[in-house]
Amino acid sequence: MPKMAVLVVFGLLLSLAMVCNGGITSTFVRKTESTVDMPYESDAFQIPPGHNAPQQVHITQGDQEGTAMIVSWITPDEPGSSVVLFWSDKHKTKKAEGKAKQYKYHDYTSGYIHHCTIRKLEHNTKYYYKIGIGQAERTFWFVTPSAVGPDAPYTFGLLGDLGQTFDSNKTLAHYESNPLKGQTVLCLGDLSYADNHPNHDQVKWDTFGRFIERSAAYQPWIHTAGNHEIDYAPEIGETKPFKPYQHRYTTPFKASGSTSPFWYSVKIASAHIIVLSSYSSYGKYTPQYKWLEQELPKVNRDETPWLIVLVHSPWYNSYNYHYMEGETMRVQFESWFVQHKVDVVFAGHVHAYERSERVSNIANNLENGKCSPVKDQSAPVYITIGDGGNIEGIATNMRDPQPDYSAYREASFGHAIFDIKNRTHAYYSWHRNDDGAAVKADSMWFFNRYHHPGDPCKCKDSYFLYHLSKQFVPRNLYSCTH
Ligand SMILES: *[C@@H]1O[C@H](CO)[C@@H](O)[C@H](O)[C@H]1NC(C)=O
Ligand SMILES: *[C@@H]1O[C@H](CO)[C@@H](O)[C@H](O)[C@H]1NC(C)=O
Ligand SMILES: [Fe+2]
Repeated sequence: MPKMAVLVVFGLLLSLAMVCNGGITSTFVRKTESTVDMPYESDAFQIPPGHNAPQQVHITQGDQEGTAMIVSWITPDEPGSSVVLFWSDKHKTKKAEGKAKQYKYHDYTSGYIHHCTIRKLEHNTKYYYKIGIGQAERTFWFVTPSAVGPDAPYTFGLLGDLGQTFDSNKTLAHYESNPLKGQTVLCLGDLSYADNHPNHDQVKWDTFGRFIERSAAYQPWIHTAGNHEIDYAPEIGETKPFKPYQHRYTTPFKASGSTSPFWYSVKIASAHIIVLSSYSSYGKYTPQYKWLEQELPKVNRDETPWLIVLVHSPWYNSYNYHYMEGETMRVQFESWFVQHKVDVVFAGHVHAYERSERVSNIANNLENGKCSPVKDQSAPVYITIGDGGNIEGIATNMRDPQPDYSAYREASFGHAIFDIKNRTHAYYSWHRNDDGAAVKADSMWFFNRYHHPGDPCKCKDSYFLYHLSKQFVPRNLYSCTH
């Protein structure tokens, strides 16, 4: 193709790019209800029948590759058995034994918290598991993910800042009834909001555990630590951060070479998921920094094309809540995310919904004045999904005008689905509680940053041109930049 043609194509791209609009602030008006916790005796918190019956059952992936599962539960009256029996239609019953621990918090003593890792599971297989052996036995099931591989499809659900209000229950029910059928929940932190109650009422951790059991006992929840997990309360003598959370929710951090349960990675099907902690140190030389520095180059995009990061406090947030709280971590790590072409970063914390453009803000060196975010096709999309419906209510106050980095924002409760089709395509959708679960209030096709670095965006024609011209136009010019 002669130089002239390249220029023409480039010119077309530019003119098409200008047709595309900037960010959207949704005009959807939700019904305003008060966001209050469901009462203790609510059906969502039902205590299972039988003496010392296991409750608050939840599972999470137990290794890097998805052939192990950590099963967790609480027995209220006595330790009981820490054994998990598990089997499938193809596999005869096996047994694994875990451990039980209690913790004290101010004037509260927890039940017996059991964690048991079951290993050597076969991929893509439905397993049944039984706990409470010899007392009130309870049986659940889960399906293991398919083997790690570049085109393994997988559907993730996204929930953040859930809490345990009537709205939280709507969000969870909405997720459960979504016909896209999430297979694993990526949970963005802030679980029970126990710390909003007198003396960080630990019973709220128990009711929360019973609330999410209907989902978390049947599909893994991948956990991110939020600020409501810290439970730091020197005024009542509680000075060990994350004590209740750490006892109740475990992560497979050792499998990814991490030394802390709050930052780690797992591979699920075609995704490599990195979980970071906004509330652990991340400055240069700290353990989290060092771990992430060696983790990112290890991601093999030919094995796991999709690189997903979970963190509680968002880096790009245009609400007047928690504004710029994620800034120090952004400054620390953003250039790495661009360099390693992270596909998407999910955060919670802000109790609303927002999706960013692909932007980066890494050029500033304190002297060159380059301190604004710019469009960057190597940058992730940042999504805030702290809209689970907790007791603190919805975040409505937005920065005005909507900044350029913000593509879509709306003050409604909801959940999202990240539906990976193959190594190049994933379909993302956000579902507000006020609509039927199948309704997509916001959605976009994700093109993989490593295998397919263009962008479909709103400019269908320039996407076509991208294909037409990709051999001739330099990489940074052929992607659509609406
Ligand atoms: C919570 O949601 C479930 C599923 O929709 C429903 O059966 C239950 O009655 C709800 N409970 C409350 C207290 O809203
Ligand atoms: C990947 O998935 C997308 C969306 O479903 C589809 O259009 C595309 O053809 C798929 N690619 C391959 C190589 O199958
Ligand atoms: Fe938070």
